[in-house]
Formats: sequence, C-alpha cells, structure tokens
Amino acid sequence: MIALPPNTTLLPDAEATARAAADHLLSIVDTATADRIAVCLSGGSTPKRLYELLASGAYVGRLPWSRLHWFFGDDRVVPWDDPLSNVRMVREAFGHGAALPTTHFHFIPSDGGAEVGARAYQRTLQDFYGADTLDPARPLFDLVLLGLGNDGHTASLFPGKPVLEEETAWVVPVPEAGMEPFVPRISLTFPALSSSRSAIFLVSGAGKRDPLSRLAAGEDLPSGRVSSLGRLEWLIDEAAADA
Ligand code: 6PG
Repeated sequence: MIALPPNTTLLPDAEATARAAADHLLSIVDTATADRIAVCLSGGSTPKRLYELLASGAYVGRLPWSRLHWFFGDDRVVPWDDPLSNVRMVREAFGHGAALPTTHFHFIPSDGGAEVGARAYQRTLQDFYGADTLDPARPLFDLVLLGLGNDGHTASLFPGKPVLEEETAWVVPVPEAGMEPFVPRISLTFPALSSSRSAIFLVSGAGKRDPLSRLAAGEDLPSGRVSSLGRLEWLIDEAAADA
C-alpha cells in the first residue's frame, strides 16, 4: 500500500467513498446553524456517483434542500450542455432536479469566456458571503468537495501554471488547462477553496496512486495546498491506495 495523506479513511471501492462523502455531508448539515448551507462541488468524473446518491431515495429525504446552496470549485469554459461541462455532469447526476424539492445551484457562467465568467462568479460568491474579503473566522463554505487530478491538480489549479501565484482573487480564469480536457477553465483559488468548515478529497482508482505518492513524498502540488478552517479529510478507495 502506498503512503496516504493524514486524515485518510480507506474505503473498499468508489461506491463506498461516495456513500462516506454523502454521510459526511449529512453530518455537516446536522451541525449547520445558519439558514443557508454552502457546498462547493468538485467536477470531473469521480463525484458523479456521490451526486446521484444525494438525489436518490437513500439521501434525498434527509437533506434540507431549501437551505442548501451548491457552488462549483471550477468548470470548463464550454456551453453548459457540452459533455465536458461540470454543470452538465451535475445536472445529469442530480437528475435535472426532477425529483428534488428545491435546488439552489450557482453555476459558473461560461458563455462570456474565462475572464468574464471568473469575475462574475467571484461577484456571486462575494454577494452570497456578504463581504469582499474572506474572514478566517467565518468560512465561505460549510463543505468543499475536491478531486485529485492524475498530475496532482485540484479544481483547475494545475502544477506549474501561473495562476498558482494568484493569492488574492477568489476566482480566476485558467486560459490553459494542464490536463485534458485542454479547454479554458474557471477555478476557485486556494484562499476560496480553503475557506471551509470542512473539506473532503474524494479519490478512487489506480490512476491516483501516482499523485498520492508524490504528495506523500512532500512534493508541492496544488492538491496539497488546499486547507480548511475545520477538518480536511481524504476518502480514498483501495484501488487508489494500492491496498
Ligand atoms: C475538473 C475537476 C478536477 C477533477 C480532477 C479529478 O473540472 O476536472 O474539478 O479538479 O476533480 O481532475 O477528476 P476525475 O474525478 O475525473 O479523476
């Protein structure tokens, strides 16, 4: 088995990681005191099963949908109905909201390009938060869900890309993705992704062994730069851990 990050829970397979993440969201909801609960969704393929679960009979009735606000950690700058869009993936996984009582999705606008979309989304977040600067004592999100790219990226923050130096903005355009799909992206930055009450990396599959090993070896990868004001946990399946 490879070395794993601190606060790792090892699960047998992708389904078990999805269920563990869903259960964690329930615990976050149960301890939420504010009227609105902000969840930052990750994109890519790994979290789709989690989103399907949340909209399924096993969880849908246990979530306060009218209080939940769903944001995105990043998206590809493509039309929302494009197969590459995280909006499309989330809409499909949540069943296009058909079976959901109320949904408050805050999609990243992609029709005006990366610069325009990043500025607009930063405004959306700041208006929701009620301030233009992040207060270390008041997290922006109740929960941030994160994925691990095979190159060690997270959201759309890629190793070696200049955007990593951007530490003041909450949302940035990413003109050149460091991994497929090679389309422009819009991504939250480390300060925004780290402004959470809780954060979870959802990791499954043998393809993640390399970035996990590089993180354990102390390599400075974007996925290693995200923190939380509360607890940051890793939900990793045995295939990724080579267990
Ligand atoms: C994206 C994601 C990205 C993703 C990782 C892992 O838009 O691509 O936000 O950061 O989480 O690339 O993707 P998989 O889950 O598909 O391996």
